[in-house]
Amino acid sequence: MMESDVSWVPVLLPALLLLLCQYSCATRPSPSTILAPALPSAAPGLAAADDVAAAVAATDAAPSTAAPAAAAAAPADKYAHTPREVLEDASLSVPKLLKKYGYPVENHVVMTEDGYLLTLHRVPHGAHSDSDDINSNRVRSLRKPLRTTRNSRRRTFTSTGIKRKRGAARHSAGRTVLLLPGMFCSSAVWFIMGPRKGLGYILADAGWDVWIANPRGNRYSMGHVEIPSTDDKYWQFSWHEMGQYDVPAILDYVTTATDQAQVPVVGHSMGNTMMMVMGALRPEYSRLVSVHVALAPTVFLQHAQSPVLKGLAALAPTVSTLTAMLGVHSLRPTLTLNEALKQLCREEAVVTQRICKNAAFMLLGFDAEQLNATMFPVIMGHVPSGGSTRTLLHYVQSFTSGDFRQFDLGAKRNLAKYGQAQPPAYNLSRVDFPVAISVGENDWLDSMEDVQRIAKLLPNVVDFYRVPWPKFNHMDHLFAIDAKELEYDHVMEILERFS
Ligand SMILES: *[C@@H]1O[C@H](CO)[C@@H](O)[C@H](O)[C@H]1NC(C)=O
Ligand SMILES: *[C@@H]1O[C@H](CO)[C@@H](O)[C@H](O)[C@H]1NC(C)=O
Repeated sequence: MMESDVSWVPVLLPALLLLLCQYSCATRPSPSTILAPALPSAAPGLAAADDVAAAVAATDAAPSTAAPAAAAAAPADKYAHTPREVLEDASLSVPKLLKKYGYPVENHVVMTEDGYLLTLHRVPHGAHSDSDDINSNRVRSLRKPLRTTRNSRRRTFTSTGIKRKRGAARHSAGRTVLLLPGMFCSSAVWFIMGPRKGLGYILADAGWDVWIANPRGNRYSMGHVEIPSTDDKYWQFSWHEMGQYDVPAILDYVTTATDQAQVPVVGHSMGNTMMMVMGALRPEYSRLVSVHVALAPTVFLQHAQSPVLKGLAALAPTVSTLTAMLGVHSLRPTLTLNEALKQLCREEAVVTQRICKNAAFMLLGFDAEQLNATMFPVIMGHVPSGGSTRTLLHYVQSFTSGDFRQFDLGAKRNLAKYGQAQPPAYNLSRVDFPVAISVGENDWLDSMEDVQRIAKLLPNVVDFYRVPWPKFNHMDHLFAIDAKELEYDHVMEILERFS
């Protein structure tokens, strides 16, 4: 076994630092002194990374100025083992990344009932698969999320819904699919590994009209109609709110935009948690889901093996302790952090890449064979991409309680909010859309017991797939070298069956 030759104490520390580093990179001066040593890389670039949404928008709007900046941050010789043209993917936004590989891309902004503005990316078809001139397919600048956009197909959308539709989306008839990424991830995770590797590309090439969600708080979805993301109030959410508000708004939008009664949804990790919350609390939206393919669903964490999760649970007996200790509510996405991780995880930095890999493996499970070391710095350019402290804490609570329940605010505030001292459990027997579960046997967050428990409670499980690779871990669902053969081919079969 791989894990037996790694003593976990020296590995746990960098792993925790890696996770907690996100806090220290938050722009607000943190009252916490504990994390100060984790700051070295953050200090100089902090101001520049202040508003990632703006930075991403600037990158999109002005490629000519963005390119030299990326070049300055990553001189070629530093990354001898990762080809330069691949390495630059670490710094490209999702629209730029897709354009680079010749895929059409659209941005859509959806407003939730509680005022959050979410960016959906859409890849309407594969590369060069019809006569569309990709360059004429205008991507709206993220700087102006509320402005009406118009793409080459002359379909006009606004943030609150579709005003007008002209022209038909031939290619999307009956073949729309929605992808939901996991915690601290963005729409990028389905594309990082490149064409023929990433699920987003594979689906687009197979003729699917691919929509990719960015839940609130990640670098593409930091807008709100009233509350700025610099306000702590903005960050008072976990995957509960994503399931209650984000997924319904997104499903409404996608089904309306594509004239579909139902769409299939593929989620990874937290993407599935959100779906379960929605299914339990908003069953009226379940009818919009033709099938939910759940890759590594993190619902029950009772048997999670991850020492990182265990460490956090030990550190955070209560919500307020960890929040008070860290002094911030947001895990703001910062490009500085991603740049630092990219450096640390580059292939030829033998020692730090080893620490880096071990840190990731300690969180998610060991699987060295399926990790393409050359791509590791590229992954680190996109992950983590922001989220709230509460999102992580809600998982820590799941681990501690062994249950799938609403956010625990402490007895007194629970009583006020829920009318009972303990937070109410989500009722999984209300989740009535068909669910196809896919799980790896070496997932340190999702143990087989916990996933089997979900399968027993859900009324409509149509498939239970064990990935035929014993070391398959939590992130292999996105990044494994053989993900297509081991898992995506099966996912495509399920999607065909339900379309
Ligand atoms: C790893 O990634 C590099 C860069 O994209 C690629 O050239 C190489 O073929 C990949 N290796 C494997 C085993 O897939
Ligand atoms: C859960 O939902 C099912 C189906 O709607 C219902 O029959 C059951 O009573 C609910 N359980 C609880 C504990 O509310």
